[in-house]
Amino acid sequence: MSESTDIMEFSGTHQAFRNRWAKTDDNMCRHSMSLHLHTILRKEFFASYLYMLEQTPLVKLYPVTCEYIKGEKQFYYRAQNFYKGIPASEEGMMGDFVEISEVDLEGSRQFLKKFVGPGKAGSRRALDCGCGIGRVSKGVLFPVFESMEMLDMMEDFILHAHQRYLGDYADRVESYYVYNLQDFIPPPNRYDVIWMQWVACHLTDKDVMQFLRRAKESLRPNGVIIIKDNMARQGCRLDPVDSSIIRHLDIMKNIIQKAGLTILDVEKQEGFPEVVVPVWMIAMH
Ligand SMILES: C[S@@+](CC[C@H](N)C(=O)[O-])C[C@H]1O[C@@H](n2cnc3c(N)ncnc32)[C@H](O)[C@@H]1O
Repeated sequence: MSESTDIMEFSGTHQAFRNRWAKTDDNMCRHSMSLHLHTILRKEFFASYLYMLEQTPLVKLYPVTCEYIKGEKQFYYRAQNFYKGIPASEEGMMGDFVEISEVDLEGSRQFLKKFVGPGKAGSRRALDCGCGIGRVSKGVLFPVFESMEMLDMMEDFILHAHQRYLGDYADRVESYYVYNLQDFIPPPNRYDVIWMQWVACHLTDKDVMQFLRRAKESLRPNGVIIIKDNMARQGCRLDPVDSSIIRHLDIMKNIIQKAGLTILDVEKQEGFPEVVVPVWMIAMH
């Protein structure tokens, strides 16, 4: 199916949903909490909200997505709490599936090869977003790039990366950023590759879109952004435990297009067991 058909289909569903809800919202709930929640969810999760609303009542979605407690958006606050309890280790980074780490890294190395080299992206510098302890940096990016920058919201993971996990590679890290990706403004014209693995799932649709816009500005000539993430087999699913959202590939494509980026290639990670949610790699610029 072509990209434009995808978008038309999405718009059609979106419109059908809006029509179905319009009466409720406009006539019955104009000033009610329901409209308020509906509006917030639609703003933050614009490409995903249809599916989330159909699966989960608003009242349940609100606390795990858009509620603020002491100024903290709960969708992000919960993820921080979750990762506080996660060990700084490969097991911690891979959840229950550490045995697939090597297959994952090999898939990434092969995918990356397509975009780096003569006439393609340079190999001066890459940024690893949501790097954790640096599993991807160590296994995929350091062997290719002269220097690295690494970002994660958890200071413990970054410290472990620097002090233990990366070994001699640590000497080639230009900057570590202990930062929330949704707030990070990458410097312009700086990176040949920006890698985002299992971190876009922790951002709202709106924040993914806005970060991608900023990331595009921070690419060097021929630079690419690569998202590698779980993609739902259907619709999208909110995981309240680690506060992540697994989106269907079409939803992710929709967000990328809204951000004004062009998709260069899309590939499914092969070799994972059936029980694992499908993982896809998307290259864009
Ligand atoms: C499942 S781990 C993956 C780590 C690494 N990308 C890998 O593949 O091994 C997700 C990482 O994203 C980080 N993370 C989650 N939400 C984030 C956010 N909003 N900003 C920055 N980092 C975040 C977590 O701290 C964690 O290190």
